[in-house]
Amino acid sequence: MVGRGLKIAVCGKGGVGKTLVAGTLARLLARRGFKVLAIDLDSNPNLYITLGARPESVPRPVSDDESLVEERTGARPGGWGAIFSLNPRVDDIPDRLSIPCPDGVRLLVVGMPRAGAGCMCPQNALVRALVDHAVLERGEAIVVDMEAGLEHFGRATARGVDLLLVVVEPTRKSLEHAKRSYEYARELGIRRVWVVLNKVTSDGEAAELSAVARGAGMEVAVAIPFDVDVVRAEKLGVSIVDYNSSSPFVKSVERLCDAIVENLT
Ligand SMILES: Nc1ncnc2c1ncn2[C@@H]1O[C@H](COP(=O)(O)OP(=O)(O)OP(=O)(O)O)[C@@H](O)[C@H]1O
Ligand SMILES: [Mg+2]
Repeated sequence: MVGRGLKIAVCGKGGVGKTLVAGTLARLLARRGFKVLAIDLDSNPNLYITLGARPESVPRPVSDDESLVEERTGARPGGWGAIFSLNPRVDDIPDRLSIPCPDGVRLLVVGMPRAGAGCMCPQNALVRALVDHAVLERGEAIVVDMEAGLEHFGRATARGVDLLLVVVEPTRKSLEHAKRSYEYARELGIRRVWVVLNKVTSDGEAAELSAVARGAGMEVAVAIPFDVDVVRAEKLGVSIVDYNSSSPFVKSVERLCDAIVENLT
């Protein structure tokens, strides 16, 4: 099944559960028959663990491959004042550099240039062109695991997605972060922005957080409970889907999947 209209990015403050949500969602969409390309857009890439890929099969991030950056943009990373292409050829990269994961998901480790590299550097030009290509031109479902923080909004990566999931944990800081993400996403023209509440410890807490998020104009898609099986799976370095596919975490992401399939396909 193709995933036209299923271009999803996952963002949020550091440590809220972005990678777990993105990776689990990718696996569950694949189990429902979608062809899925998962993109790791974090400079500390670890989406492969949640996807259940073997560490030795994971290549280095595209944005760290200086030869590829130079070959495609015409400039070596780090060269000041270099003239480089803002529109490099990238259409062959997803098929050539992605790796297979369980359930048929493919993983492309893109990475993210360090903050100091500036948003207009050759690596960023390549990263943005690659994500734009994946989101706008490829037929399969795309799930992008973003770097923590707000800088990626400034770099306009993933600007063309159909849905931005903002993962929120039950803290004031995380909610404040979500509100700013929501505003930036709107400025970038992303039409659908859903909050995913994570690590929720009671129904009362879920209701309280939902009320705050809705009060700020945000739509809440699902409340995922704090789940000890997630902690156990993370300790072992295995995917929660492989550790216990009927755990509360996976069941909640199933509900998120239902909402996505219902509203976006
Ligand atoms: N629902 C949950 N129940 C229990 N623990 C959770 C849950 N969600 C996330 N965690 C814990 O939070 C940690 C961070 O999760 P994850 O790596 O997905 O976050 P992240 O937002 O991608 O982090 P980073 O900003 O570093 O990329 C996990 O190691 C796990 O222990
Ligand atoms: Mg992460």
